[in-house]
Amino acid sequence: MSTYDLIVIGAGPGGYVCAIRAAQLGLKVACVEGRETLGGTCLNVGCIPSKALLHASHMAHETHENFAKMGLNVGHVEIDWQKMQAYKAETVAGNTKGIEFLFKKNKIDWLKGWAVIEAPGKVKVGDTTHEAKTVVIATGSVSSALKGVTVDNEAGIVVDSTGVLALPKIPASMVVIGAGVIGLELGSVYARLGTQVTVVEYLDAITPGMDGEVQKQFQKILTKQGLKFVLGAAVSGVETTDGAAKVSYTLRKDNSEQALEAEVVLVATGRRPYADGLGLDSLGVQMTDRGYVKVDGHWQTSVPGIYAIGDAAPGPMLAHKAEDEGMAVAEVIAGKHGHVNYDVIPGVIYTTPEVAAVGLTEEAAKAAGRKIKVGKFPFMGNARAKAVMQADGFVKLIADADTDRILGCHIIGPNAGEMIHEVCVAMEFGAAAQDLALTCHAHPTTSEAVREAALACGDGAIHV
Ligand code: NAI
Repeated sequence: MSTYDLIVIGAGPGGYVCAIRAAQLGLKVACVEGRETLGGTCLNVGCIPSKALLHASHMAHETHENFAKMGLNVGHVEIDWQKMQAYKAETVAGNTKGIEFLFKKNKIDWLKGWAVIEAPGKVKVGDTTHEAKTVVIATGSVSSALKGVTVDNEAGIVVDSTGVLALPKIPASMVVIGAGVIGLELGSVYARLGTQVTVVEYLDAITPGMDGEVQKQFQKILTKQGLKFVLGAAVSGVETTDGAAKVSYTLRKDNSEQALEAEVVLVATGRRPYADGLGLDSLGVQMTDRGYVKVDGHWQTSVPGIYAIGDAAPGPMLAHKAEDEGMAVAEVIAGKHGHVNYDVIPGVIYTTPEVAAVGLTEEAAKAAGRKIKVGKFPFMGNARAKAVMQADGFVKLIADADTDRILGCHIIGPNAGEMIHEVCVAMEFGAAAQDLALTCHAHPTTSEAVREAALACGDGAIHV
């Protein structure tokens, strides 16, 4: 039996970052992880492998879409799916091994196995009970089940976000249930590789919660890329027959029953927090009515000494939110002042073009009765975006009408996921739109579009 200052349960972006920060702050730390590799869902079967496939499929798309226009005649580009899978696996392995290296460097013990919290300060892994002054639950989330639909990743016909990353071959057709982040990222991977993709979504718009104008433009662009959309459609069941599947849905506008057939069905209707098997019930750890572990302002659960962060705790299910909480809770446990600013957490969809957002949408600001001004700038007016043939999209900056303080930003366009961060930093410093407008931006960069949107909140953008 070993005694630690902190045992972190789960080695995803929340858990491993928490363990590293705590070790840097001088604590004796162990991290429990039952998977064969560190990094959790994000590194193993989420953000990282999907980004490898998004990159490879984007390259494939460029070859047949834009190469010839630039005088690059490569002819027909053959897709070697097994090789693409190997590239994805190498990308994952490089990253998971990197975490292992960081654990060794920071003298963090990896307790291999699945944890049970026997009592506050007592964590059982396998046959051994380890003691710790504090425990952090960072057990993440799993795909939520959809009534009438049985996912079988092994069979490869009705799959979730894990199964879709490792299909045996590129299917001819795919129905994606849910037009959220997972559905659109992975739907566009396969669409670019030649699959006929149809997205069936319950709501009347894609990407719930996003800025309305971004939603419309995004759907238009994805449609141009070959994705089909059936909106306002509630999926009620999926039947599998020999090597194919039939998706049944009700069109909400007229209650008519419809069906679609495809080789593969991706179920992407959300995720649920996961803390099963830890024994939280018998410890008296309170949960929210949506199944999250309830925490206070310092991520402490209802049981002193037990904390929870990341997807298992309330808030957006995003790797970077988990990382921030991981660092902050480590600081709290080490007697410092950990803090997360939940008003400035960016969200990015890694399609082409990328979609990125931070802060309030125009709709949310208006619903909250705030007086706002909106500065918009289209990438059509940005020289760099035009040069790289990615001039679809725009930057939309929302500022307070009286104080000019930046309240939010919504970008659809090239590098949106990188550009959003200058707005995040500005918001952290309580900047006004004018502060961005007065900051010199290098030319020619796509970031100039952010500055132009800020100028549009004042006396006007230049290149429109
Ligand atoms: P989501 O919550 O983003 O979207 C699910 C969609 O499914 C919603 O639009 C919902 O209306 C629809 N839906 C639900 N039931 C339905 C039904 N019966 N018929 C038709 N449509 C239905 O969930 P998603 O995409 O599965 O992602 C899960 C989580 O993972 C999210 O919190 C997301 O933020 C996170 N994630 C983030 C990524 C990123 O930041 N790039 C990448 C992948 C996941």
